[in-house]
Parts: sequence; structure tokens; C-alpha cells
Amino acid sequence: MSSEVKKNEPKPAAISQTPAAPKPAASPAARQSPVPKQPLPGSQPQGRRNFFKFIAAVGGILGITPFIPFGSFFTASASIGKQEGQRILLPDGTYANVKTFPPDSAVIFPYPRTGDERFDSEPFRRFELIRLAPAEGGDKNNVSSFRAYSMVCVHLWCLWDYKAGRQVRDPKTGKTIVGNIECPCHGSNYRVHDGVAIYGPAALQTPPNNALPMLDLSIDSEGYIVVNPPTYTVDRNGIIGYGRKVKA
Ligand code: FES
Repeated sequence: MSSEVKKNEPKPAAISQTPAAPKPAASPAARQSPVPKQPLPGSQPQGRRNFFKFIAAVGGILGITPFIPFGSFFTASASIGKQEGQRILLPDGTYANVKTFPPDSAVIFPYPRTGDERFDSEPFRRFELIRLAPAEGGDKNNVSSFRAYSMVCVHLWCLWDYKAGRQVRDPKTGKTIVGNIECPCHGSNYRVHDGVAIYGPAALQTPPNNALPMLDLSIDSEGYIVVNPPTYTVDRNGIIGYGRKVKA
């Protein structure tokens, strides 16, 4: 069950909000057919590269863990009982609410939020809350309209962004999806519904290195969207910078 944020909780400096919906200027055809990019020439073999990424992810996360005042990334399962759900702070100082958060839009937020900007701006703490486009079910006033993914691309750790209104073809179903997650570095595209890479180098990686870590959400009695305490394993919420196992 989610718990509320105390009213006198210190409010950190807000993180910039994702541009609402800059409609792409490209032609519909271009928008619907992103060209999958091939692995970089000379890149390391997949298994070996993923191993090094995993070790680096563990090292990076453990490196910042001592500075987290509550909870931790890899020991989340041990402290999960002590963690509390957190509302999602918006740049204007209010909290994301199902009644007001517009469909087909997104906002960047830190989790877990400490109130200290130095820590709350760390890339491994950055998530993006997305409300799906109406065509994708985002018009429902319940938690099914929302997703929250780690912004760290599971390819080589650039930060992706949500492209509102952009249309992409789902290679699995052949259907057109409205709203797209795209990494600017090498063009990986992730399916907005489940965070699985569908184009670009991340899509060529083997599970669980092909899906973004994801937070579980709930909605409290006042309509506020709450992040439920995660478990950072590949089988549950995923490991930031490494991946998440998604059921087929
Ligand atoms: S870092 Fe390479 S596609 Fe994201």
C-alpha cells in the first residue's frame, strides 16, 4: 500500500521537465520507419561487453550508495520494508496527479528523491514518468496510463528522452505506436508500453540487456502517482544501466 509524502518534506530544486510535445517535422514515412543502427565496428563481443557493463553498473551504483540517506539500490530487497512510497515531484513544486498529468507527455524525476540536488541530479537516479498517448490507453484515469523507466540507456548509458506524438512501427506486431522512447547517442528506440528495445543497438542485445529498468507505480486516495519501493533485480524492477527481464 502506498504511503503519502509528509507535507513538510523539504522540496529539492526541480529537474527540468521534458518538452511537452514537439511534433516531429519529419515526414510520416520517415517517422514510422526508424532505421535500426548496426553495432559499432570494433565493438566488443556482446557477452563480454555486457559483463563489463554489469560490473561497471554495480561499481557505479555501489559508489553512490553510501550517500543515499535511505534505502539503497542493490540492497533494496533488504531494506524494502523500511522504504516508503514517494510521490513524483514536478518542476513547479507540485506532485504528479492522475487528474492533471496530460496524456502523451513525460517528466523527468529523481528516485529515490533525497531533497539534495547533488544527489537528485545523478544520472542513475533519473527516471522519466510517461503518460501514454490516448491511442495507447493513456486516457484512462488509473495507473495503467503511466510508465516510469530509468533514463539510462542499456546500450552505453546515454540518457534517452520521450518523443511525444512520434509514430513508430512495432516490429513485433506490425502496429503503429504513438509516442516513442529514443536514445540520442546511437538511435536505440524502446517500446513505450514495456521499455523493450525495438530498434537500434539496444534491440540487438540479448535479454535482460534489452529492456529499461522500470518502477512500479500506484495512485493514492488523492490521485497522486506514487512510486512503490522497488527491488533492483533483473527479475523485478531491473538493474539500472544493465537491463530487466521482460516476460514474452
Ligand atoms: S547509448 Fe547507444 S543507443 Fe543509447
